[in-house]
Amino acid sequence: MCGIIGIASRTEFPSRVLLERLKRLEYRGYDSYGFYDSRNLKKRVGGIDVEAAGRATTRTGIAHTRWATHGGATERNAHPHVSCDGRVVIVHNGIIENHEEMRKSLEKKGHRFASETDSEVIAHFLEEGLKRKPAEAVIVDFFAAAAGSFAVLAAIKGREEIFALKRDSPLVLGAADGMNILASDIYAFSDATSRAAFFENDEFAVVGAESFRFFDRKGRPIEKAMREFVWDQKESVKRSHKHYMLKEILEEPAAVERMLFSMENDQKAAFDGLIRLIRGSKKIIFAACGTSYHASLLGAYYLHRTGVESQTLIASEFRHYANVDRDTLIIALSQSGETMDVIDALKYARERSGRIAAVVNAPYSTIQRMSELSLHILAGQEVCVASTKAFINQAVLMLRIAREFGFPVDTDNVAGKIRLLFRKKARIREIAERIAASKDAYIIGRGLTYPVAREIALKIKETSYIHAEGMMGGELKHGTIALIEDGTPVLSLVSNNDPDIISNAREVEARGAQVFTITNDGRMERKRNVIHIETGNDGKFGILAAVAGQLIAYYAADKLGRPIDKPRNLAKSVTVK
Ligand code: F6R
Repeated sequence: MCGIIGIASRTEFPSRVLLERLKRLEYRGYDSYGFYDSRNLKKRVGGIDVEAAGRATTRTGIAHTRWATHGGATERNAHPHVSCDGRVVIVHNGIIENHEEMRKSLEKKGHRFASETDSEVIAHFLEEGLKRKPAEAVIVDFFAAAAGSFAVLAAIKGREEIFALKRDSPLVLGAADGMNILASDIYAFSDATSRAAFFENDEFAVVGAESFRFFDRKGRPIEKAMREFVWDQKESVKRSHKHYMLKEILEEPAAVERMLFSMENDQKAAFDGLIRLIRGSKKIIFAACGTSYHASLLGAYYLHRTGVESQTLIASEFRHYANVDRDTLIIALSQSGETMDVIDALKYARERSGRIAAVVNAPYSTIQRMSELSLHILAGQEVCVASTKAFINQAVLMLRIAREFGFPVDTDNVAGKIRLLFRKKARIREIAERIAASKDAYIIGRGLTYPVAREIALKIKETSYIHAEGMMGGELKHGTIALIEDGTPVLSLVSNNDPDIISNAREVEARGAQVFTITNDGRMERKRNVIHIETGNDGKFGILAAVAGQLIAYYAADKLGRPIDKPRNLAKSVTVK
């Protein structure tokens, strides 16, 4: 996590531009921020205030927004970090795993540290090396000495350029008019250019306003091709919506239509390629985290129903549970395409000759580049940290894939059904506000509604801070039912009148729970505690119930006045293990 930005410009520009661009990366972490514009260095705790740059101007600068890993969210630990003599200023995303050892050795040489971070060693290491060698040679030494992951931008006194280093943390260079911009992802500069060069692992670059040179970890020059990328801008503006989360939920029908259209047209070859890969593999293992994991659970469920051998594993546990060989296809699901746990799972799979495909939202991401085949879900930019429209597109794509294997479903009207559901916002809001009055909530499902129950619970937790558990209805009586008290809200997801989940709901009701139901049973439509979903197809029911759940989470959080788009402690792109 953390977002970094660096700009080298032909002409002077206001330093606030550094912070404006950094703000586009704020979803990567917002514990603290800071910038260095070759004259001023400022750091602050909390979200980015572009006014902090004042009226200063510059031709080069670096900036950082932090998601704290080593050391609390204090001004002292905020980036940039400076070496003892002030010659080197750095920003860093990642973790230097051997920072303690590096720190001790630098302290022996007289370096004094000002923060508790792992990152500060980078500034001191570079300063120490510069006493004897040119910057490029010191960077080669750094690649040899440092363990862990890093995307680093360094400004060195006496050099006009920015030094950019990458290992396992994302870094990209955008070539805009009269300036080169370095950033954690293309969104930082996608309004200014559509030309980018992507750093691969163990590469560094020396970047000036009008030129750049790339090197490998040994300092040997490498050729780097610029690529044209396409990234929709329109959707990243909040307009009249109170929060990005609501805006992004309301964009779901359009996002679903865009993706399904693309699968039949420009992505048809890749889509057919994935179907062939699935047919040609003995088993499918999905790897994903968080919300994407819940979408992959739906994928495994849908495929399993068609007889395709499939399972899904939480990426951080992949190596402990996966049995991978050359006949295994690993499908990585990731909105950002940069989640470190997923990247790690793919590395493990690759070592065992597994084949790798990816389903991502962010184009040109690391996960996409690690895969032999990838599909774009085209959900557009998600600014809200909690993922909503990307989840729906992932889930619809899972259903669309399963249809190729015989899952009986017409996906063409999913978008229309979501629009119909939006008409029930008032009812959904009323239920959400009643749930918001409790400190705990339980969401229960079975079969395909189990992943949806987990996703709804995750959305409620992240956005409203209500403790919510999403679980298999059948598991309740094996322990959790002990927590049900008078008035505890339980949301039950009932597809096609599944008698088992109905009994589970009755069991908690008998113990005083306040039961709410999402169902496709038309006879229940008018009941007060019910959200009715208009579909007879259980595959689609799960997806529509998830939309209703996202709205419940949103309205509950709004009722409680939470910072919905940027919940505490979270970051959208989780690039540490
Ligand atoms: C929750 C959420 C996270 C992500 C998870 C994986 O709303 O957004 O749980 O789903 O961090 O991220 P990606 O999909 O980028 O790999």
